[in-house]
Parts: sequence; C-alpha cells; structure tokens
Amino acid sequence: MLDPDDIAIILHAIATGFPDRAVNVVAMSDKIDENQRAVLWGALTADPDRSTQARHFGDALRSLGAERHSVNECYRAAFYASDDWKKLSSNPFFAFFSADRSGYPLDKWIHYFPIYERHLARYRGAPVRVLEIGVYRGGGLELLRNFLGPDACLVGIDIDEVARAAARGYEVEIGDQADPEFLQRVSQKHGPFDIVIDDGGHTMRQQTASVEALFPMLKDEGTYLVEDCHTSYWPEYADQGPDGLTFIEWVKARIDDLHAYHYSRSEHLQAPWQTCLDGLHVYDSVVVLTKARRAAPFSELTGTSEFINYPRQTGAIHLEMLATRDAAISRAADLEAETAAVRAQAELETAAIRAQAEAEGERSREELRPLRSELAGVRSDMARVSADLERLREEHEQTCSDLLGSWGIIREMRQSRSWKMTAPIRRLKNTLPPR
Ligand SMILES: C[S@@+](CC[C@H](N)C(=O)[O-])C[C@H]1O[C@@H](n2cnc3c(N)ncnc32)[C@H](O)[C@@H]1O
Repeated sequence: MLDPDDIAIILHAIATGFPDRAVNVVAMSDKIDENQRAVLWGALTADPDRSTQARHFGDALRSLGAERHSVNECYRAAFYASDDWKKLSSNPFFAFFSADRSGYPLDKWIHYFPIYERHLARYRGAPVRVLEIGVYRGGGLELLRNFLGPDACLVGIDIDEVARAAARGYEVEIGDQADPEFLQRVSQKHGPFDIVIDDGGHTMRQQTASVEALFPMLKDEGTYLVEDCHTSYWPEYADQGPDGLTFIEWVKARIDDLHAYHYSRSEHLQAPWQTCLDGLHVYDSVVVLTKARRAAPFSELTGTSEFINYPRQTGAIHLEMLATRDAAISRAADLEAETAAVRAQAELETAAIRAQAEAEGERSREELRPLRSELAGVRSDMARVSADLERLREEHEQTCSDLLGSWGIIREMRQSRSWKMTAPIRRLKNTLPPR
C-alpha cells in the first residue's frame, strides 16, 4: 500500500492543481499491486474537480483497506478544496476552531460543529451547568466557553491528572467515567447538569456506564451528547459493554424505549428511558439524547369527520362530538344573526323615537314663544308697580315726619303765654254761630 509520504505528495499535487503528478506517483509506485494501481488511478482520473479527485482517492484507499489516518487526510483535502468550508465558516464552533491558537490542542471531526450548534444554541448565554467527560488539555472546554458565554458553569472530568493542570481556569475532577459513584459525586457537587458531553475514552463500557449514571441526574430539558460513536464499529474499542453490546446497539434499544407506550403492557413504564427520554438524534458518530418528562401519547382528530386509515372504537364518540360541535356552531351562528336583527330593529326604533322627540320639542318651543313675551310684559309691569310702591312708601314716611314736626310746633305754641292769654277769645269765638 502507498505510504503516508506518497499520499501526502499525491494530495499536495491535487490541491495545487497538478493531477498528472498525482497520477505519476500512483503509476510509478512499487508499493501497490496492479489491481490497487488500477483502482487508485481510476479514482484520480475520473473527474477534473480537485475536491472530487481527493474524495475519490480517499474512497479508493478506504476500499483497499488503507490506514484510517490516510483516508482522513484525503477527505480533509477534499473539504478544503471545495466550497464546503465556506458554508461552515458561519458556524461559531468552526469559526473558533479555525482561528484557535490558544495553546489548548483541539481535535474534532468537522461535521460535529453543525450538530453542536443545533443542539446547544438554546443554551447560549444562559447560566447553564455543563459537564465534559474527557478534558485532555482543555480545548473542548475553551470551545464551549466561547460558544456558551461567561455565565455557563463548565466542569470537566478526566482519568488523567495532567488534564487538571492543563485546563487552567476550569474545574476538573479526576476519576473514571465508567465509575457510577464517582459520577454521582461529581453531579452532586457541580450539578445538576443541563448539558453533558461525553468525549472521554470512547469504549463501549465507558459510554454506556456514563450515560446510564448521568442521564437520570440530568436536568429536565437537558441534553446528553456522546461523541465518536463510530468506535462502536472499531474493534479496538470493543471492550466490556453491558451484555457485550456496542454503544450504538445500546442506543438502538433506547429507540424501543421511546416507543414503550405503544407495546408495553406494564402499568408503570421504566424510568428514565421509557418516561424521560424525549428524543434520540443519531448522526454519523454523534448521538444526542434529550430529556423531558413525557406526557402519555394520544392521537387526536380534527378537521374532518372521517378517519383516514381505519375505524376506531372511539369513532362513534368522535362523530357524535363532532356533530354536537357542528350543531353548536350552527346554533351560535343563528343566535348571532338573531341578535344582529334585534339590534338593527332596536336601532331603527331608537332613531324614530329620537326624531319624534326632537319634533315635539320644536313644537313646544313654538308654543312657548308668545307666553314668554307675555311673561316678560308681566314682569316689567310688576317692576313698575314695585317702583310706585316704593315711591309711595317714601312719601308716606315724609308725611309722617312732617306731621310729627307740626305737632311739636303746636304743642310749644299751646304752652306759650300768648296762647294762654288768648284762650278767652277763642272760647268766645266757639260760642258764636258760624257765619
Ligand atoms: C479525546 S480526549 C478529550 C478531548 C477534549 N474533550 C477536547 O475536546 O479537547 C479524551 C480524554 O478522555 C480521557 N479519558 C480516557 N478514559 C477515561 C475515563 N475512563 N474516564 C475519564 N476520562 C477518560 C483521556 O485522559 C483524555 O484526556
């Protein structure tokens, strides 16, 4: 098989636009047999596009059983020679990853980034608690910090003490991810967690033991993400999974749990997988389990009075309910029409009454007009009479006071000597007959 140096030369030739050089290396190599040469040559010459050449070359190497690392290099070259990296450049994880020169090494499969964004976006900027299984040198924690923001509480666990020293600024607990008691202690101390990301040892036993211990302690609405699940297909990771299952086989059993309501005869479904597993999202190498307390499922029928696929026991009740509802809707419509008619009639009558009242008011105003002027005449007469009365009262007062003055003069005069001396004359005068 071609060695890594040959493959590097071929990929460089493809990437720089010299496919003939790549074909030459294959044509001249003495490390491959004629069958292998034909397969590799065919892959390099089938398409003029650089990205396609690199991809086909990787496919050919994979089909010939080449090292995974060599195939990885081909697909990497294909990605950067195409527009795919441009499409991914708006992804915040990829943007950080591409620019990262922090000194925290970070090794990721590129296609994980859209999956991260899809499942973690709702936690962005929130004070969530996150557990990363497998810290290494802290690069993954840095990536999460950049995306989730300063309010997220990030905790890591690793079996290697070096991880704690390397991941400066992060809480790192040292222990085995396959040890449920250790995981429980971590969860009690730093949890409950909203997010768990398993990027630890990737063996079947580790992945399964971790999810079985941590998922029940995960917060409601939490997300549990397991990376590198392709190890289920790699013999070197096939350790002591429960019942000899790979992690992906364990995940397949969870698909059955998701549907437990539809086949289980048990009154109480098994927690948490049959009651709190909200969804399973299976991607290439990544499995995401979301948690939520599930309501018992039931189907509903709306929009038609007929069932689509098959008759149901509840069909009659449904039809009756629909008929009742239809009758109620039609009765409501009738009532609405009746109400509208009554309202219109009332408005008509009100308008007529108002018009009549206005007409009568006008007539009354006409009749009042002469009475008003008569009243004004009476009022002015009364004013005149009052003035006369006042004048007469003043005259009367004057007369009285004049009388009083005259009486005083008479009294003084009667007491005078001349009056008394002339008294006999007046008496005599009174005896004389009137002339
Ligand atoms: C792939 S690296 C983690 C990389 C890191 N998440 C990142 O993104 O930079 C795997 C880590 O898991 C740790 N590990 C391996 N087996 C473990 C176990 N049983 N328990 C805890 N950590 C383990 C290793 O020491 C290593 O640091």
